[in-house]
Amino acid sequence: ADGDAAKGEKVFKKCAACHAVGEGAKNKVGPVLNGVIGRHAAAIEDFKYSKAMVDKGAEGLVWDEATLATYLEKPKDLVPGTKMAFAGLKKEDEREDVIAYLKQFQ
Ligand code: HEM
Repeated sequence: ADGDAAKGEKVFKKCAACHAVGEGAKNKVGPVLNGVIGRHAAAIEDFKYSKAMVDKGAEGLVWDEATLATYLEKPKDLVPGTKMAFAGLKKEDEREDVIAYLKQFQ
């Protein structure tokens, strides 16, 4: 199902302590998320990723709706050793909505 970007904006409050998105967004504790969909994992040049994330990107992990949904459900399942200290979004609706929100910043 397609997510609801307006609801996703509210879900993104759970991410915003660590991530910025939109015009003028910069890296924070986590990398800037503009254009994340379609990008290889660990692609922001001036962000210091974990080795786990760098290795995933080198192996060919690309962020699309499916891989993002998997990562956001339980980050450490898809990327063991990731330094994203976030338990995950348990609800499928929340994952779909936040992905729809992120899609607005391609
Ligand atoms: C990495 C999304 C919550 C810190 C990432 C990546 C995505 C993402 C897509 C990979 C980016 C890339 O490869 O360039 C989200 C979303 C969140 C969320 C949508 C909310 C639902 C958080 C929170 C924190 C955080 C709350 C801090 C406590 C990080 C860090 C990384 C990261 C440090 C780099 C991971 C690594 O190098 O292993 N996040 N994130 N994120 N995020 Fe989040």
